[in-house]
Amino acid sequence: MIAAEQAIPTTMLSKILPTTVVAVEQTGVFTGTLLDEEAALLGPNVVPLRRAEFAAGRTCAREALRVLGFAGQPVLRGENRQPLWPNGVVGSITHCDGYCAAAVARADDMLTIGIDAEKNQSLPEHVLEAIAFGEELEWLRRSPQNGICWDKLLFSMKEAVYKAWYPRERRWLDFDQVGIAPDVEENTFQARISGTFSSPVLSGQIYRGRYLVAQSLILTAVCIPTAAVATRRDGIDASRPNPLSI
Ligand SMILES: CC(C)(COP(=O)(O)OP(=O)(O)OC[C@H]1O[C@@H](n2cnc3c(N)ncnc32)[C@H](O)[C@@H]1OP(=O)(O)O)[C@@H](O)C(=O)NCCC(=O)NCCS
Repeated sequence: MIAAEQAIPTTMLSKILPTTVVAVEQTGVFTGTLLDEEAALLGPNVVPLRRAEFAAGRTCAREALRVLGFAGQPVLRGENRQPLWPNGVVGSITHCDGYCAAAVARADDMLTIGIDAEKNQSLPEHVLEAIAFGEELEWLRRSPQNGICWDKLLFSMKEAVYKAWYPRERRWLDFDQVGIAPDVEENTFQARISGTFSSPVLSGQIYRGRYLVAQSLILTAVCIPTAAVATRRDGIDASRPNPLSI
């Protein structure tokens, strides 16, 4: 449960997150501070822009943790840059030019979370061919001309999936191992991870994520509730496709 006396911040990101997830965001010029343990992760020679985004992300993360009932805890860093959360918490951090956010939840509620933010601008030349495959290229060709940069949205969906995946699996994912199928009516997407991995929970399943395009930004989120996984383990849903959805 979220600490009773805390108001849950309303953010753009919270529109695409379940109510058990606390999101804190910054827009415009980044502000923020680092705890000593967090500053030590950067070292002395880091460029100011990187320090600013790192501090903004950590500040959002600590504020979200405070709301969740874990005040004053540093957010350290794992072997492959993933944020390390206090015991009993899962979460994710993102930043892009002019936007930064963190989302956290209790591990009792969420198995894992991945969030991503990108500017609503097309991918640089030749990036698309490295990140989109098969049916993804088909739906990109069919996508409506409505101001949404669908190529960047696809990229963001895959980044959100990776950020949800990595902290549990501790393994790299290639872009062609994540197949994305969007539902543009619902502003959702399904992601299937292919390949042989140790985790029967995350690999081979279909995850559902959500997206929002607003204020020149693309926001994506993948949240896997523990309840969805428990249902699958109990076999209740075993004969049907298993969208692990928010
Ligand atoms: C890690 C990665 C996903 C970050 O995405 P990005 O769009 O460059 O940057 P964002 O600002 O959105 O996210 C950066 C934050 O993600 C988090 N992050 C970094 N590595 C992570 C990982 N392995 N797992 C989970 N979260 C991670 C960090 O909090 C980081 O911010 P910080 O360094 O200030 O703490 C990206 O740089 C990357 O390495 N991608 C390659 C892996 C990949 O995408 N594979 C294919 C996916 S299908």
